[in-house]
Amino acid sequence: MLDGKKTLFSGMQATGNLTLGNYLGALKNWVSISDNYQTFYCVVDMHSITIRQDPAELRKRARTLLMLYIAAGLDPEKNCIYYQSHVSGHAELTWILNCFTYMGELNRMTQFKDKAAKHADNINSGLFTYPVLMAADILLFQADVVPVGIDQMQHLELTRDIAIRFNNLFGDVFTVPEAYIGKTGAKIMSLQNPEKKMSKSDENPNGSIYLMDDMDTVIRKCKRAVTDSEGCVRYCDGQPGVKNLIDIYCSCTGKAPAEVEREFDGRGYGEFKMAVGEAVVSILKPLQERFAELSQDKVYIDRMIKENAEKATYFSNKTLRKVQKKVGFPERIR
Ligand code: TRP
Repeated sequence: MLDGKKTLFSGMQATGNLTLGNYLGALKNWVSISDNYQTFYCVVDMHSITIRQDPAELRKRARTLLMLYIAAGLDPEKNCIYYQSHVSGHAELTWILNCFTYMGELNRMTQFKDKAAKHADNINSGLFTYPVLMAADILLFQADVVPVGIDQMQHLELTRDIAIRFNNLFGDVFTVPEAYIGKTGAKIMSLQNPEKKMSKSDENPNGSIYLMDDMDTVIRKCKRAVTDSEGCVRYCDGQPGVKNLIDIYCSCTGKAPAEVEREFDGRGYGEFKMAVGEAVVSILKPLQERFAELSQDKVYIDRMIKENAEKATYFSNKTLRKVQKKVGFPERIR
């Protein structure tokens, strides 16, 4: 507890272009709950290098992501927004936690299996211990709540297991974190294949709306979205394409699915898709404008990056020193 508030930690990778799915499924929730917590929002660039990256590209994307956090509405004076690689505690705690995590546990991680299959030429040990770095992120700040998508639940469970194991050995060192699954919750699916999640790494660019897409592109992608031959705007599993568009429309406008069904009763898909496109534009346009403004203000962004890295270092060191002492590292002479 800091300032009587619980602590929240979350992070995103700076790989690929952020999609509308990332915004509606994660960032938007972060913004809506941030006032209730002491928050740490990290750009997890150390996780990114578990897959080969172009260095210049990674640096650029990390900065873009950090500015997107701010453009989406997270005030960097109130939320600690920073780069993982700027706070050495992440790496230091990871090493220690590596020694309290079993190979068998990491072997069970489905994301490791998926990524190892996808990058068979580079199954490095960082990819294997990726979940330990994630556990360190969370435990370093004694986070009470962690907003994550369903795909990260297994990693969060492992984080809890590591924390409990460590606490059993050394006393109450770590807060055992809880997952926070956003209430809008709707998982945004690909516009081209509504059985598949809208993804940063989709080969088909028409499947995803990117946060940086221009407005004509947004409208065009919505118009081209795959639907069905039913011809009516109904929220049901039998019409996954339409259902996904309704989810997008609802997330952007705050309306409920039943309301949308009524609104478009007897109207065609063409009109409905146009309305979805306009709803998305109404969200992305101000976000992009804010982003453009921030891009002009290098001095401000640089100052925030520096100050927040210092703040994160300060809090993380409290946990780190405690942990180092518990495991038996010699005291630092001051
Ligand atoms: N692994 C997460 C993802 O890919 C990102 C992440 C890293 C994270 N560290 C975290 C999320 C800590 C929440 C808390 O989505």
